[in-house]
Amino acid sequence: MAEKVFKRTLVTSALPYANGDIHLGHLAGAYLPADMYVRYLRLRGEDVLYICGSDEYGVPITLTAEKLGITPKELVDRNHAAIRDSFAGFGMSFDNFSQTSRAIHTETSQEFFRDMHTQGLFVQKSTEQFYSPSLGRFLSDRYIEGTCPVCGHEGARGDECEQCTSTFNPTDLKDPRSVLDNKPLELRPTTHWFLPMGDWQPKLEKFIASHPEWKDNVRQYCRGYFEAGLKDRAITRDLDWGVPVPLPDHEGKVFYVWFDAPIGYISSTREWAQAQGDPEAWKTWWQSDDTRLIHFIGKDNIFFHAMMFPAVLMAHSGDWVLPENVPANEFLNLEGQKLSTSKGFAVWLPEYLAKFAADPLRYTLARNLPETRDMNFTWEGFQARNNSELGNNFGNLINRVFKFTGKYFDGVVPEWSDAMMTDLDRKALADVEALLEQWAGHMERFEFKAAVDVAFQAGKVGNGYFDEAAPFTTRKSDMARCGHSLGVSVQILRVLCLMLAPVTPFAMEKLWAWLGMESDLWRGGWDEGTRSIPGGRRLGESEILFPRLDDEVIQPEIERLQGLLGTDGQA
Ligand code: 2FM
Ligand code: ZN
Repeated sequence: MAEKVFKRTLVTSALPYANGDIHLGHLAGAYLPADMYVRYLRLRGEDVLYICGSDEYGVPITLTAEKLGITPKELVDRNHAAIRDSFAGFGMSFDNFSQTSRAIHTETSQEFFRDMHTQGLFVQKSTEQFYSPSLGRFLSDRYIEGTCPVCGHEGARGDECEQCTSTFNPTDLKDPRSVLDNKPLELRPTTHWFLPMGDWQPKLEKFIASHPEWKDNVRQYCRGYFEAGLKDRAITRDLDWGVPVPLPDHEGKVFYVWFDAPIGYISSTREWAQAQGDPEAWKTWWQSDDTRLIHFIGKDNIFFHAMMFPAVLMAHSGDWVLPENVPANEFLNLEGQKLSTSKGFAVWLPEYLAKFAADPLRYTLARNLPETRDMNFTWEGFQARNNSELGNNFGNLINRVFKFTGKYFDGVVPEWSDAMMTDLDRKALADVEALLEQWAGHMERFEFKAAVDVAFQAGKVGNGYFDEAAPFTTRKSDMARCGHSLGVSVQILRVLCLMLAPVTPFAMEKLWAWLGMESDLWRGGWDEGTRSIPGGRRLGESEILFPRLDDEVIQPEIERLQGLLGTDGQA
């Protein structure tokens, strides 16, 4: 079969819950890899759109809002703004970052429901659930507590007992009460709409089978679900915070958050199109088969992106693009422990950004991406990557070339030429060119960790070349040779700039400018970046791109996390 030709790439990152700050686990999962990919495509001059937003419904949000004594809308607006700003500080380059509590999302997700409901694609089922007569509403598991049916502990949660760790159904609890007002609850019948996923299994199996190139972890998860057989999935809930079910006699019923959230990618694209002054432009991205749709997620979201959302897109009567890939990452541990947001055992992005620059974190996370297995972040590792890799490998080379050119050639790229090429020069240039090609292959295949490793190798080639060509020595004996070696070094920096741009964009935008490049790095900078920089060009004034990080700033971070560990050394 001829390979499909795509004209544009639509990239999404999982919509983060607007229930708290972003932490390193999030970044390593669905955000940094996506941003690197998008930046890579922009560098190549491809047509790409990067869509995200905050996921603002669901019970945890109402619980937090109730605890804080504010409305859920106030809470999500506040958290949305905070998440948006910290993402910006980290260099996430979304084309649009929306909210699922906006009208455009209500409209879009209700349209999906109506379309599928009209086709008779949902089934309705009756179940019994706890109802609070005092509050006049149904309560989900997390709002219910009572006496544990196993050990008699009085403060057992709706579905588990913290005392004896038993899990059960809320209906097994004795004396069930509401956590909100401590009043008794009663069971009442309620009806919900379900998506019969089993009906879609044959099509989904075919769809996944047509993507042997997807990552093994993703395909394995899918296989597991298929073997167990896909079940009916409830897509509505009895809550007052959510997208209302658009049917008569459905007061108090909203969509289950996992029904509406993925549709949020479409709502956010519609919002983007409106902001462009071309409200129909979203259709080109979602409804033409030459769009390549890529969902970046963490492994806990695989079912929803590889199965449930594709089933919804197949089921809707319109002609929708299906994901071309779902590069899901495994989890990131912290100092050898699992992250625990409830215990605060995490590194929060706003706190990080208040003290450190974004690039070193992007770089360190990229070096440790949990692409095929869980990985670990340590502050010591972060310091080492910053000092010895960003600083000593890349920063040092950049600094040496600029300082030398500034001092001995008045900041102008010295004349260099084919006629003066030695084997050493030729080999260095050929090596970095070959590495650039390898790098691009890794980026195309979502192998970001490998791509950054290749960039690191290129940095070593550059330093090795500089040491051997030794312009600091030839400067005393042969100024033309010295200049030529610097001219060659400038070419190596140009290639390095391309390879580092997606991972350390803040620093590389500066380097791009210092190299006197004319084009926009993010609009096909590749073209100019793969052409030689001629002798005679004036370079910009450089500065230290990757300052050292000393123990004084790293140690308190390690100590803070250690302070959160119990006496058993566990978070
Ligand atoms: O797991 C999460 O953080 C979810 N809020 C992801 C939603 S992704 C998409 F479907 F919106
Ligand atoms: Zn118990």
